[in-house]
Amino acid sequence: MQEFNGKTAFITGGASGIGFGIAKTFARQGMNIVIGDVQDDRLKHAEGLLKEITNNIFSVNVDVTDREALHAVSDKIKSVFGPLNVLCNNAGRTGGGKVLDTPEDRWRHVEEVNFWGPINGIKVFLPDMLESGQSGHIVNTSSFSGIHGHGNQSAYGASKFALVGLSEFLRNDLAGTPISVSVLCPHVVDTPVIGALKERVNPKVREMIEAMAVSADVVGQQVLSAIENDEFYIFCDGTDTRKMLEERCETMLAAMERQFPRGSEDE
Ligand SMILES: NC(=O)c1ccc[n+]([C@@H]2O[C@H](COP(=O)([O-])OP(=O)(O)OC[C@H]3O[C@@H](n4cnc5c(N)ncnc54)[C@H](O)[C@@H]3O)[C@@H](O)[C@H]2O)c1
Repeated sequence: MQEFNGKTAFITGGASGIGFGIAKTFARQGMNIVIGDVQDDRLKHAEGLLKEITNNIFSVNVDVTDREALHAVSDKIKSVFGPLNVLCNNAGRTGGGKVLDTPEDRWRHVEEVNFWGPINGIKVFLPDMLESGQSGHIVNTSSFSGIHGHGNQSAYGASKFALVGLSEFLRNDLAGTPISVSVLCPHVVDTPVIGALKERVNPKVREMIEAMAVSADVVGQQVLSAIENDEFYIFCDGTDTRKMLEERCETMLAAMERQFPRGSEDE
């Protein structure tokens, strides 16, 4: 997708952090912006700030786990701005802990928001995006925890791995259509979630987090450029994450090599 001016974007979890960073970037491109979130105070505040950039914006209180409510948002967007061009399935919640220590209800709620939320978004908005015949893009916010299993983030990490897989299959499904797909895999972004985490850790870890964190505005720019260049993976930094990615790929390739050594096929 190359043209942004006058096009329409819907960003879930758009009232805060990464979603808000994306909304600001899109607004500066002349896009019509719709932000959805479950927190009214955040929505009002974000809408006010976005109105300093554009008048073509509205906000909705919508929970991504509620597919019917998303249908109502879709109808409203169509009546106000016309066809949707960019869908950012960005809303997410944390929920870590070791597998056995994570309560059943937390497992289910984390998967409901982080995995089923994007499925709901896709099911509700994609048919009309295809029907419109216009160029479009879907950006699913996963995490670097959806690429590399580090720490004890069972429910959260599993939901984000699933979202990377969903995004890959969806991109395959949509090959040959004017709609494409990217998956956003940030490691540490300076948002309220990370702010709350910093309060809970010791000063040394806090310092480490601060050194790693990138800003939500930078992530907004990275998302815009990935849509423009049709990049599938959107990584937000290459310092700490490159080593982890190499380690994961090397572990897989080493297993493949042990089990099926190169050249063994010819023997
Ligand atoms: N901040 C990071 O370092 C980081 C790293 C990797 C991935 N992420 C992912 O980025 C996304 C945004 O996170 P953030 O750090 O900007 O957090 P944030 O808390 O600043 O923003 C998330 C927003 O989503 C909203 N939300 C939560 N549940 C919702 C629901 N069911 N329906 C609609 N809205 C809902 C929240 O009210 C909040 O305003 C999440 O999917 C998160 O997992 C963040």
